[in-house]
Amino acid sequence: MNMQIKGTGSSLPANVLTNDDLAKYVETSDEWIKERTGIEKRHISTGETVASLASEACIKALADAGKSAEDVDLILVATCSPEMALPCVACQVQDAIGAVNAVAFDLNAACAGFLFALHTAHSYMAAGIYKNALVVGAEVLSKIIDWEDRGTCILFGDGAGAVYVEADAAKAYNFSFVQHADGRKGMVLKCGTRNLKNLLYSGEEQSMFVTMDGREIFQFAARQVPGCINELLEKTNLSVDDIDYFLLHQANLRIIEAIAKRLKADISKFPANVQNVGNMSSASIPVLLDECRKSGMFKPGMKLVLSGFGAGLTYGACVITL
Ligand code: UT7
Repeated sequence: MNMQIKGTGSSLPANVLTNDDLAKYVETSDEWIKERTGIEKRHISTGETVASLASEACIKALADAGKSAEDVDLILVATCSPEMALPCVACQVQDAIGAVNAVAFDLNAACAGFLFALHTAHSYMAAGIYKNALVVGAEVLSKIIDWEDRGTCILFGDGAGAVYVEADAAKAYNFSFVQHADGRKGMVLKCGTRNLKNLLYSGEEQSMFVTMDGREIFQFAARQVPGCINELLEKTNLSVDDIDYFLLHQANLRIIEAIAKRLKADISKFPANVQNVGNMSSASIPVLLDECRKSGMFKPGMKLVLSGFGAGLTYGACVITL
């Protein structure tokens, strides 16, 4: 089964927070942040929600594909920062864009979420269940960040990216995936929601902000992601040299450089936008994909590797022949 990316779109909050702006709130500096992460600025919501950003990204992806919302079979939203537990973001998007015929649900695999959602959409299509899908990564992480913790608040940004994909049952298989999870290390990057408290029981209070062991995450990404990409390349009989571009989760420029080095791949094959948008978790890959696609750098027949990694721990990779 061949699945084509027919349209992409993204949406970022209007408000931009530079490193110098941040330094007015926490003890940090533009120099420290840039040196350790490559990040210069990020977009931060002043009212935009996960659902509003996701909806705008979907409208743009549909316009890019020349499709109308009524044609959509499936809406999958990857997010770890919805404003509401119910209804799910995907149903709010369905309502906002008028995709009245779509099935809609959310999926949470943190920074690997978009990739896992893309794999889910691909599997539905390969099984002949749906013919097309809007696959979205959307986050407003700024509301789950402790703005007094300089170790985390400098890293993250808000935004959403969407792709409209369509199946062509007659053509060759042009997408291949690997995905993994390691719950044993889950507590190195965590964020609580509501504490367990009811009529009969009052549990321990947990932090409702993101907390993490930055060094552990760094090492996890630098070790596991190259291994995962090599596993994918072996599975598909491809080598690093066969890949035109590697679009990685945009956590940090140093992580991307470390992965490129381990893969022995030229860093010029790793487009990055983390400098301008920070780490947007599940939105990172689709926003980067949208930017690269619209810049005209992709040509038919090119091979892309996408790779996401993050809380869970979850990680995965996918190779696409355009
Ligand atoms: O999607 C995955 C999300 N997570 C990640 O991507 C995190 C991956 N990890 C990292 O990128 C890095 O671990 C960080 C950038 C978060 C931190 O860099 P580091 O080199 O691991 O620094 P550190 O946490 O070991 O801290 C070194 C020093 C400490 O000071 P002392 O104890 O040596 O005096 C920190 O207090 O840097 C200090 N520090 C800061 N200084 C200025 C920590 N954050 C800041 C800051 N500004 N924002």
